[in-house]
Amino acid sequence: MKSTFPLFPDSASTLSGHVDALFIVWSLVSLFFTVLIAGLIVVLMSRYRRRHPEEVGADERAALWLEILWSAVPLAIMLAMFAWGTKVFFELYRPPADAVEYTAIGKQWMWKVQHPEGQSEINALHIPVGQPVKIKLASEDVIHSFYIPAFRVKQDAVPGRYTSLWFNPTKPGVYHLFCAEYCGTEHSRMIGSVIVMEPRDYETWMAGGTPGKSMVASGADLFTSLACATCHRPSPGVTQRGPSLEGVFGSQVKLADGRAVTADDNYVRESILNPLAKVVAGYDPVMPTFQGQVSEEQLTQLIAYVRSLGPTGAAPAGGTGGTPAAGTPATGTPAASGVTNPSSAEKDATSPLNTAGQTQGAAQKPPQK
Ligand code: CUA
Repeated sequence: MKSTFPLFPDSASTLSGHVDALFIVWSLVSLFFTVLIAGLIVVLMSRYRRRHPEEVGADERAALWLEILWSAVPLAIMLAMFAWGTKVFFELYRPPADAVEYTAIGKQWMWKVQHPEGQSEINALHIPVGQPVKIKLASEDVIHSFYIPAFRVKQDAVPGRYTSLWFNPTKPGVYHLFCAEYCGTEHSRMIGSVIVMEPRDYETWMAGGTPGKSMVASGADLFTSLACATCHRPSPGVTQRGPSLEGVFGSQVKLADGRAVTADDNYVRESILNPLAKVVAGYDPVMPTFQGQVSEEQLTQLIAYVRSLGPTGAAPAGGTGGTPAAGTPATGTPAASGVTNPSSAEKDATSPLNTAGQTQGAAQKPPQK
């Protein structure tokens, strides 16, 4: 029915059916009550109309049970819809652990997409079918909104912070990508395509493009070229100006003002652009800002690198993953020496990527059988 009479966009993600079901049921419930109430108004108006000029209305009171019934039934319906809507909402906004993270940066008037392996695209996103994908969103200028109708996902890209969305495409094809937030003159032309491919075709596509450096490797390069390593390199026996970043990502960080924050994307971003906003306990507020020196792309690469040093990334490399010593100056852990040497930092850096690659490999198998 959908193909001959397209009331709906294509339904091409694991959750698009859930969103449609909620939408359709809500619409039918609303339609039912709208028709019921409007119909009753017309019928009762006609039936109890004033028939001669002297007629005066009698004072009527509805029975108590009726009052309770017509309050309780709508309440129950609303609560049921609320619970259902909440369930779908959480499904839509909680990416699974094995989702592969891509970055999309909105800019007047284009989407710049970067793959974890380093490929970048403009107004296009190539992904393999059946693999959960998380899109980390940022904006270089104004608010944009990343919208793929066929997957029923939409999320604003807001300047100054990261947002994200996720989906798992269920069938190969080319789907619309829109900007769904008015963002200036050429907003209506800020459109693109999401190309969902069979895993084998995706491999071919990946192999055909200019490979470039992985996000993590690019971040490691920046970490060296911006001289971040000068202060954030763990150096045993020396008083450090900045905390080591080994094992920090994802952990709780104690701040100088006594607060504790989780070291997530937005925290690392803020620490690079506005270092004095949240100073780690035990360190002086001496870090200069990198505002204006790093682009949105470079920020996401730096964060990818810092994440690769985090508890999950550092565990296989040095075995210190269990003790994310956030604020404490490094005591010279074996893994820490990895940062001092760019080449070995890069080697470390590839480990989370391999994990991502394996996940993709695993996802390829089912369709090949
Ligand atoms: Cu970007 Cu509208």
